Amino acid sequence: MLLELSHVAAAYGPVQVIEDVSLTVPEGGAVGILGANGAGKTTTLRAISGTVRVPRGSIQFEGRDIRGKRPEEVAALGIAHVPEGRGTLGNLTVQENLRVGAYLRKDRAGIESDIAFIRELFPHLARRYASNGSALSGGEQQMLAIGRAFMARPKLLVLDEPSLGLAPSTARDVYAAISRLRTETGISMLVVEQNANLAFSVVESAVVLETGRSVLSGATAELRGNDEIRRAYLGG
Ligand SMILES: Nc1ncnc2c1ncn2[C@@H]1O[C@H](COP(=O)(O)OP(=O)(O)OP(=O)(O)O)[C@@H](O)[C@H]1O
Ligand SMILES: [Mg+2]
Repeated sequence: MLLELSHVAAAYGPVQVIEDVSLTVPEGGAVGILGANGAGKTTTLRAISGTVRVPRGSIQFEGRDIRGKRPEEVAALGIAHVPEGRGTLGNLTVQENLRVGAYLRKDRAGIESDIAFIRELFPHLARRYASNGSALSGGEQQMLAIGRAFMARPKLLVLDEPSLGLAPSTARDVYAAISRLRTETGISMLVVEQNANLAFSVVESAVVLETGRSVLSGATAELRGNDEIRRAYLGG
């Protein structure tokens, strides 16, 4: 397994909001996390990234225990996290944001070809290449945040609700690009999403969180056939 969470609990100070979350991401796989508002999806990603306290459970990345590691250590091991609400650097240009994403890399030719790939993947961004991050639309900022995370060439790309706040057609564009990113580079992904139709366009399996617990997981085909999942996450 690339990533394995086993009975993870997570807390903000004394307040434990994740009780018992288990999930796995296979090498080369893409996995979704579904769940209602407040279920603990973002906190689960923060537990992986090392930005929240994890009092119980184990988190293994490539067979190595990463629980309790600092965020920059986790990033250096190959996990790139695109947080909820994007997190681009507003006072840097699109180009500078992409280069910041690659700051740990030494392979200049690889960096240039990856930038060319991102520009081709997100034509909107290519047109705004010299603009500041803060001048971009919400959809463009999401694209830039994904592009910047990819520029680190992580082994695992972690995306927190990439469709949040976007018009439906923009959300579909973003997901089409995520899907291409995945099929053309084979990068592994862990994707939090409330819109299961979008998530299922990219992931092969998903886990459902309810009030801080993983309550169900399965292949997307199996989850599509589940009445409860259909009602709650697939719009009937
Ligand atoms: N910084 C924080 N301090 C204290 N409690 C928090 C903090 N952030 C989140 N929580 C609480 O933790 C619980 C889980 O929140 P989390 O953000 O992980 O949910 P989520 O599934 O990502 O929800 P959403 O779909 O709204 O993004 C919620 O009850 C929330 O109020
Ligand atoms: Mg969230």
